[in-house]
Amino acid sequence: MAGDWTIPQQWERYSAAEHAMWDKLFARQAAMLPERVVPEFMSGLDMLRMTRPGIPDFDELSERLTKATGWQVVAVPGLVPDRTFFEHLANRRFVAGRFIRTPEQMDYLQEPDIFHDVFGHVPLLAHPVFADYMQAYGEGGLRADGLGAIERLSRLYWYTVEFGLIRNEGGLRLYGAGIVSSHAESVFALDAPSPNRLGFDLKRVMRTPYRIDDYQQSYFVVESFEDLLRQTIETDFAPLYAEMAAEADIPIEAVLDTDLVFTRGTQAHARSGES
Ligand code: PHE
Ligand code: CO
Repeated sequence: MAGDWTIPQQWERYSAAEHAMWDKLFARQAAMLPERVVPEFMSGLDMLRMTRPGIPDFDELSERLTKATGWQVVAVPGLVPDRTFFEHLANRRFVAGRFIRTPEQMDYLQEPDIFHDVFGHVPLLAHPVFADYMQAYGEGGLRADGLGAIERLSRLYWYTVEFGLIRNEGGLRLYGAGIVSSHAESVFALDAPSPNRLGFDLKRVMRTPYRIDDYQQSYFVVESFEDLLRQTIETDFAPLYAEMAAEADIPIEAVLDTDLVFTRGTQAHARSGES
């Protein structure tokens, strides 16, 4: 392993069964997403030729991605230290796992695999504005680290990059990678009466904890990627971090008077205790 935690993908080592697993996951999401995901996600899949069968080869993918937005995809063994992760993003390198889930893990797995990392995240990296947001986030992460605010900032990543919704002419659409790589959450996040769907507000989001073990109890809706990028780069987060240090977190299921409410969730799913 190199000092930056990257490893070779060793694409030629994937078995036929592993490529078939990718194809199966891909077909299932490709069938349901066009009506649900932000259109730029589908254009990204196309532009990067991710619609071809088999697990993508990172070198080939990076070549196309570099032409579009200057991003690359690099393999890592699993979770990497925060600073390493931020450094990669700040330099337009997206770190991805190289293993793929087993058939038993088709619907649920704890650790992000290549399907989540590559299918979920990479298509939007071909979109210039989203690509800039990801780089800015990496730079913001390095700064947050120095300010003891990584936990706050990670909530922004969670509620945008991983579980974000976006407003579209016809209604709400998915864009978060954690949603679009999950068959069940792609339905739940848009259609279930259980979760709240609230307007995105930078500080509000950074005050809201999140769930890593089940569907989200609140999703946040951005107006556009341009608006998300503008708000985050034009705001100096240092004073926000300082204010938040003296403020309690917002309960995970709360709807505030100040929230723009798209859906006031029943929270029936969270209360049922099932997942
Ligand atoms: N503007 C932020 C700061 O002052 C940096 C940032 C940009 C963070 C974009 C997240 C996303 O720290
Ligand atoms: Co992810």
